[in-house]
Amino acid sequence: MDNRRVYLDHAATTPVAKEVLEAMMPYFSEKYGNASSLHAFGREAKDALENSREKIAKKLNAAPEELLFTSGGTESNNLALKGIAQNKGKGHIITCKIEHSAILAPCRLLEKQGFTVTYLGVDKYGTVDPSDVEKAVRDDTILVSIGHANNEIGTVQDLEAIGKITKERGVLFHTDACQSFTKEGINVKKQNLDLVSINSHKIYGPKGVGALFIRDGVKISSQLQGGEHEKNLRAGTENVSGIAGFAKAAEIAGEKENARVLELRKRLIKEILFGVEEVKLNGHPEKRLCNNSNFSFNGIEGESILLRLDMLGVACSTASACSSHSLMPSHVLLATGMKPEECHGSLRMTLGRDNTKEDIDYAISAVKEEVANLRRISPFWRK
Ligand SMILES: Cc1ncc(COP(=O)(O)O)c(C=O)c1O
Repeated sequence: MDNRRVYLDHAATTPVAKEVLEAMMPYFSEKYGNASSLHAFGREAKDALENSREKIAKKLNAAPEELLFTSGGTESNNLALKGIAQNKGKGHIITCKIEHSAILAPCRLLEKQGFTVTYLGVDKYGTVDPSDVEKAVRDDTILVSIGHANNEIGTVQDLEAIGKITKERGVLFHTDACQSFTKEGINVKKQNLDLVSINSHKIYGPKGVGALFIRDGVKISSQLQGGEHEKNLRAGTENVSGIAGFAKAAEIAGEKENARVLELRKRLIKEILFGVEEVKLNGHPEKRLCNNSNFSFNGIEGESILLRLDMLGVACSTASACSSHSLMPSHVLLATGMKPEECHGSLRMTLGRDNTKEDIDYAISAVKEEVANLRRISPFWRK
């Protein structure tokens, strides 16, 4: 083992790309105007804001006027769910059991406020069956919110099939695309999407920046009151440098990079599945994000292997970063039918732009070595 540091936690966050940082720099202390100001400094900031809006909207096949900037994925999801619910006043929402907490927590709050929520189950791969969405739609259903790709196991949902159903039934369709944006195709027209949440820090942009696509004509209640920013739907001076960085990050992300990461990810999965006994790949074998792998190792704890790998310089995760301080088994793995004790042995390795083949080979050797070491001392592992 050498002194390598290998970051394999890109689903948690990514480093800011050099080009992104360069695109952001002028908007700190040179072009620092407030985008709402009428003078030249303000107009400079406003131009950056609107150029960024155009670039990002294009990636979704949306019109720039349909994109609203937020502080990230969490805010976009809260705005979508609470904004629609509040605007309608009452009704039924359909989501699924493996959503990110930024969907599940607002849904639980809305239930306390009198809305009803159906949490759809998933199959063993984490897939939502579109026919389950169809069966769950009621006369009072106001919104369907199904995440595009899962943050833990990477399973990608069939948005087009779900969007066909919501369109036919006249129900609004929201997707949390924070993990899939720039990795999977998102086309709001083809997929019949009414609302889409995206963020910047998963695509080599800065943290604390996101956006919500709201289809033209969809009515939503603002969740932040104050000035008239973002068409009166999201008060607060826009984070111009962050938004310029977000747009650059979206602009430079590409299919070529996704294909390279996919090859490395395939190598990692193949080597671990063949090189370690009693290991299971969580999530879908094919319909998964190009950078995601998630394994369960029999007889060992996810936390133990994570810490051992960390000592060898390999950074991974046991569940989502947001819940990695929790001892509760992952709600995502439980929903796929795994037993609580199986969930504790899971390890997520998510690859990214800077990983090399040598990095992946190093990580594979480290996993093999540490699984063997931990099993030697595990009371749960057959001797
Ligand atoms: C699927 C998903 N939704 C929402 C979020 C929250 O986004 P943010 O960190 O920008 O608030 C994340 C990030 O962890 C995520 O993976």
